Amino acid sequence: KLAAMPPTDKAAILLASNRGPVSFTLKDDGTFALKRGGGGLVSSLSAIDPSAGVIWICAALSDADRRAARHAPGGRLDQAGHDTGGQAVRMLDIDPATFNRAYNAIANSTLWFIHHMLYDTANQPVFDARFRKEWASYEAYNTAFADALAADAAKGAKVMVQDYHLTLTPRLLRDRRADLRIGYFTHTPWAPSEYFQLLPDDVAREVLEGVLGADYAAFHTRRWAGAFLDCCETVLGAKVDREELTVTHAGRTTRVGVHGLGADGDFLRDRAAQTDVEAHVTALREQVGDRKLIVRVDRTELSKNIVRGLLAYRHLLREHPEWHGRVVHLAFAYPSRHDLPEYREYTAAVRRTAAEIVEEFATPDWQPLILHVNDDFPRSLAAYRMADVVLVNPIRDGMNLVAKEAPVLSEKGCALVLSREAGAFFDLGQDAIVVNPYDVTGTAEALHQALTMDDAERIARCRRLAAAATALPPGKWLADQLAALE
Ligand code: F6P
Repeated sequence: KLAAMPPTDKAAILLASNRGPVSFTLKDDGTFALKRGGGGLVSSLSAIDPSAGVIWICAALSDADRRAARHAPGGRLDQAGHDTGGQAVRMLDIDPATFNRAYNAIANSTLWFIHHMLYDTANQPVFDARFRKEWASYEAYNTAFADALAADAAKGAKVMVQDYHLTLTPRLLRDRRADLRIGYFTHTPWAPSEYFQLLPDDVAREVLEGVLGADYAAFHTRRWAGAFLDCCETVLGAKVDREELTVTHAGRTTRVGVHGLGADGDFLRDRAAQTDVEAHVTALREQVGDRKLIVRVDRTELSKNIVRGLLAYRHLLREHPEWHGRVVHLAFAYPSRHDLPEYREYTAAVRRTAAEIVEEFATPDWQPLILHVNDDFPRSLAAYRMADVVLVNPIRDGMNLVAKEAPVLSEKGCALVLSREAGAFFDLGQDAIVVNPYDVTGTAEALHQALTMDDAERIARCRRLAAAATALPPGKWLADQLAALE
């Protein structure tokens, strides 16, 4: 039973993101089961101090979320008695058809594909009447966020708008509330200008002008920030200063910043020492014995390049039979975006490739590959603790926190095989073994190099990786951006 609570004061700091810190499922007895949200964006924003007068505005992502939002006064989950970890959370109940077009068709099938450069000959963009309808829903969804933010913000409040779902929100919000200090952060890569211009001209302009509604627009790396500046110059004819990192367009200047999110070392070490993780470590040890362990942990996401990673492992076993019986690949590929056919097909391809590898190499006393497709955070932490090698090979990735989290927890001092197309490459490239993610044989050789690296060198590298990975923990990452909004 949900109790109505009185409205609270307006917030001094507002966070806005599609996925919020909690989501719901409906239990058989009609009550809600609450789950904490996952992913890089949610873990970074969760570092904010709830006592600082913060409200987090997010979308209802499912029917259960919508029902929970509807039962809460004004969508305020915390005021309806849900455990939001002390966080004030407003969940927006956007109608399902509008939400699906905005989230699945535009955010995840268009903007995600553009920024990760995922279109190929089998899946080419077609911007027709149907797209226009979807785009109108994306505008409506962004407008719902702008309206909610405008309603909840105290005078002069700071607003931090997150990611590709909400590119139009900064401008829509500025039109409503010129007194606010608006920040925008892109968690994905930003597309090179030629690729970005696959979008219809008016849509490309709207996206860029949407982001430029912010006072401060930030990215994980200089590479993504530079691509954004290029787009502003080419598409909008904006005045761009690459030294000062500013864009001037239509009489306003937006500052551009770079804040490469790091891992939360203290949280990880504390969490990884808890009993549920210990139990997974014990179980894994029994499964793997004293064999070397290659670990990967991803959402089953096209950009994560899981299939090529598996093919690289197969090539390693074919070319280096000395590893037969001596290595195990633990691949965690968690479900993601199964509303989209491309993701369902990709998940099937991951399973198929894994089964082929097992079929080709398994013996009665050696299981060369263990694929887990269910999300289990404690089990992932256990795998990080035990890893000899961690494989992170996305074809394009805004940052990639697995590359940063694993070296912090690895007890043996893991080697990191890392794609040069991940944002994390800019912080970790010096001590990782760097690969071109399309190069399967090159990745196989990198795995071999990682497995054979001298212990002292591997441990020293891992120590430096962990230090670089935790240089900008989420709390500081957030604080720096809030300071930039002063
Ligand atoms: O990479 C940016 C990001 O926002 C991640 O933080 C998150 O895991 C993903 O994109 C979005 O995933 P989802 O669609 O499951 O919210």
